Amino acid sequence: MIKEVVIGTLCGAVVLTIGILIGHFGIKKNSAPSWVNDVSKDVDENLIKQFLSEVDTVQLQENLRELTKVPHMATSPGDKQTVQFVLKRWQDPESGLDKAWQQEYKVYLSFPNPDNPNKVTVVNPSNSVLFTVREREKPYSPDQEDPEVVQPFAAYSPPGNAMGKLVYANQGKPSDYHLLNQTIDLRGTIAITRYGGAGRGAKAINAAAFGVVGVLVYTDPLDINDGFMSDTNETYPHSWYLPPTGVERGSYNKDFGDLLTPYLAAKEETYRISPEDITGIPPIPTQPIGFEDAYRLICELDGKKAPDEWQGGFNCTYNFGGPGFKPTSSFNNSDVKLEIFNQGKILNSSNVMGVIRGSVEPDRYVIYGNHRDSWVHGAIDPSSGTAVMLEITRVLGRMVKQGKWRPRRSIIFGSWGAEEFGLIGSAEYTEEYFTKLSERTVGYINVDISVFANATLSASAMPSMQSVIFKATKQVSAPGSDSTSVYDNWIRYSNRTSPAHGIIPRVRYLNGAGSDYAAFVHYLGIASIDMSYTYDKSKTNARIYPAYHTAYDTFDYASKFIDPGFVSHQAVGRSAGNILIRLADSLLLPFNCNDYAESLEDYLNTAVTLYEAQLKAKDISMEPLKNAVANFRRAAEQLDKVIQSSDLANETPLNIRKINDQLMLMDRAFLNPLAFPDEYGFRHVIWASSSSGKATFPGIADAFAQAESSGSSTDWKKVHYHVSVVTQAIEGAADMLNEVI
Ligand SMILES: *[C@@H]1O[C@H](CO)[C@@H](O)[C@H](O)[C@H]1NC(C)=O
Ligand SMILES: *[C@@H]1O[C@H](CO)[C@@H](O)[C@H](O)[C@H]1NC(C)=O
Ligand SMILES: *[C@@H]1O[C@H](CO)[C@@H](O)[C@H](O)[C@H]1NC(C)=O
Ligand SMILES: *[C@@H]1O[C@H](CO)[C@@H](O)[C@H](O)[C@H]1NC(C)=O
Ligand SMILES: *[C@@H]1O[C@H](CO)[C@@H](O)[C@H](O)[C@H]1NC(C)=O
Ligand SMILES: *[C@@H]1O[C@H](CO)[C@@H](O)[C@H](O)[C@H]1NC(C)=O
Ligand SMILES: *[C@@H]1O[C@H](CO)[C@@H](O)[C@H](O)[C@H]1NC(C)=O
Ligand SMILES: [Zn+2]
Repeated sequence: MIKEVVIGTLCGAVVLTIGILIGHFGIKKNSAPSWVNDVSKDVDENLIKQFLSEVDTVQLQENLRELTKVPHMATSPGDKQTVQFVLKRWQDPESGLDKAWQQEYKVYLSFPNPDNPNKVTVVNPSNSVLFTVREREKPYSPDQEDPEVVQPFAAYSPPGNAMGKLVYANQGKPSDYHLLNQTIDLRGTIAITRYGGAGRGAKAINAAAFGVVGVLVYTDPLDINDGFMSDTNETYPHSWYLPPTGVERGSYNKDFGDLLTPYLAAKEETYRISPEDITGIPPIPTQPIGFEDAYRLICELDGKKAPDEWQGGFNCTYNFGGPGFKPTSSFNNSDVKLEIFNQGKILNSSNVMGVIRGSVEPDRYVIYGNHRDSWVHGAIDPSSGTAVMLEITRVLGRMVKQGKWRPRRSIIFGSWGAEEFGLIGSAEYTEEYFTKLSERTVGYINVDISVFANATLSASAMPSMQSVIFKATKQVSAPGSDSTSVYDNWIRYSNRTSPAHGIIPRVRYLNGAGSDYAAFVHYLGIASIDMSYTYDKSKTNARIYPAYHTAYDTFDYASKFIDPGFVSHQAVGRSAGNILIRLADSLLLPFNCNDYAESLEDYLNTAVTLYEAQLKAKDISMEPLKNAVANFRRAAEQLDKVIQSSDLANETPLNIRKINDQLMLMDRAFLNPLAFPDEYGFRHVIWASSSSGKATFPGIADAFAQAESSGSSTDWKKVHYHVSVVTQAIEGAADMLNEVI
């Protein structure tokens, strides 16, 4: 870790060094130019204390109230209102940033047709409608009655009619359909699936391969409500649990970024592929529904009893479906019919950007971002994060406006648009500024949903950022406690034993694409953090907070059931802001590459255990990979030694910049643009997502699983390829840490 330099103890030697360097000044202290003080300045702990004391729960609450007044789905009138609100705050003369602006991309979105709502019905052989699924969620407050509440829908599901006998397909995984297909001819059927286990769109893509013609998706009360399902006494507004008519909306695409302009920023005249050529979206009509309606459909199904792992929270047996309903059911012989009228639209979506210019290294960026668009009112997703971002910018903006502080590096804030449709605003931004961002960005902090629940911090990050996360969270009190820090509380809920540090909180890896960090991590290879407050997993099985993407995710819900008093918002704001200041102000970047080495060693050990014997039999050696990891460890230790032994106050600015560039660029070396040609934007060979479920190098793991199942020699060659890709990436990263050559 990095030595601290006490500000103001600038000793003669620095002045001497720099004096000689510029060849003008004598040894007398006060004759040094003013920048000498600035260039050697490190993090000011007093400033951090002041920042922590100013993050205010009432401000957070009022931010959230303002942001959630109306639904603000991407490009809607409500979204435009939030654009103006964020701009106004960032342009405020007393607490704004140096500069703020709105930046638009013309992106491909998907909406239901308000004049022709999507319909799901049960239709008998004489074409009478026996049952109609609800089109809107039941209102419990005026929020749900706002005409701007969008009907639940599956974004990017194609329009069309689909009709057939119903089957229950569990989570819509390939294995689920395979099992069903052993006893049922799935051709021409409609599958009902529950959320979880497979991506939203994957449920429909997997289904279509078996001839299924339409897919319904619902949230099972067992997966979200710990089994509770009665709105008379158990669900919102009585608790945080999802009411029976609540529906999770969502984007059903596989790839992130604008789907018509992969690897290009979606500007007015940009080349666009044709919408028919988009891959990774449902090929068949798909619609999400509430569990009140799913109950009616599932409990009437005929056929064999589904396996125990397929049973959910309803008080009936979940059968496969005959296909179709029981002869004793009033739905006897009936079909389920989907009439979907979704329409694709190319519309302007705005990012709002704001900057605090750095004093010493304005050309080095720390980026802090969160999306602004929601599905409905989005109090938790994403406004809890936006409320935190606006509170951080208020406190820092005031310090800047009052002349009390200016960060060493520039801080860029991004309020991303159209995240819910597929991380679009952030992905387009990284595509547009690809070179500048990859050459100059030292780190990215993402706080999307800031508070899922109030039990503990959860953080995912590059391993090199673990130490700065720990340092910051040790300085912040846990919500509702003066004596316990966020760190001490966190370690109780989630920890691991590190060979180097003993028992420490578990910082997870950023190997998915669940929020706007994806383009920064996977496409640009920028060290990133994603963090939030979350629940006690021993107390609830909810896969996410129950009102997620529904019309119940409102200010009322957030302030009553998720974070009364806004103390968890405050803890996240303090933690994320503390990390932000440290990234922006530290003389040397607070990255610990030994912690990265620990993770690589862990991945290596797993890979050796799982694969080495079989790879040897195929004449594929893992020795080069072992050497690469050892070289990385050596380089990390060497760099750490240099950092530990250097007297920072006496280092020349160029030497500081040199070490910082080694630290900043190390992660870029893990990028290989050709490693995953079928996965948009995935170039980071350590953190790319993997379908293998193994905690090791993703390319090797997936290629191995494929080769093992097919046995084909081409597939074994692919494994060899991925061993080489990872080996050379790690060697390259070790080389970035080495000095000079
Ligand atoms: C969309 O954004 C572009 C670029 O900012 C702008 O030139 C254009 O006028 C906008 N179009 C609409 C319909 O607002
Ligand atoms: C489904 O089962 C049928 C009959 O056994 C088989 O011919 C077909 O290949 C299966 N479909 C898939 C996608 O495996
Ligand atoms: C809600 O009411 C039902 C019916 O009266 C009862 O069976 C159930 O236990 C109640 N649930 C809770 C959580 O009190
Ligand atoms: C089963 O659950 C449904 C829906 O919650 C409820 O209406 C019904 O009364 C329950 N039946 C029994 C026998 O508990
Ligand atoms: C089910 O359908 C069959 C054939 O259409 C009919 O004979 C039978 O009466 C129906 N059963 C019920 C319970 O409606
Ligand atoms: C580590 O986490 C477990 C729960 O996963 C907990 O029981 C244990 O007390 C924690 N350890 C520490 C030191 O807090
Ligand atoms: C979390 O919130 C609930 C109310 O929703 C409260 O009972 C509980 O004490 C809070 N826990 C913490 C750690 O603040
Ligand atoms: Zn979100």
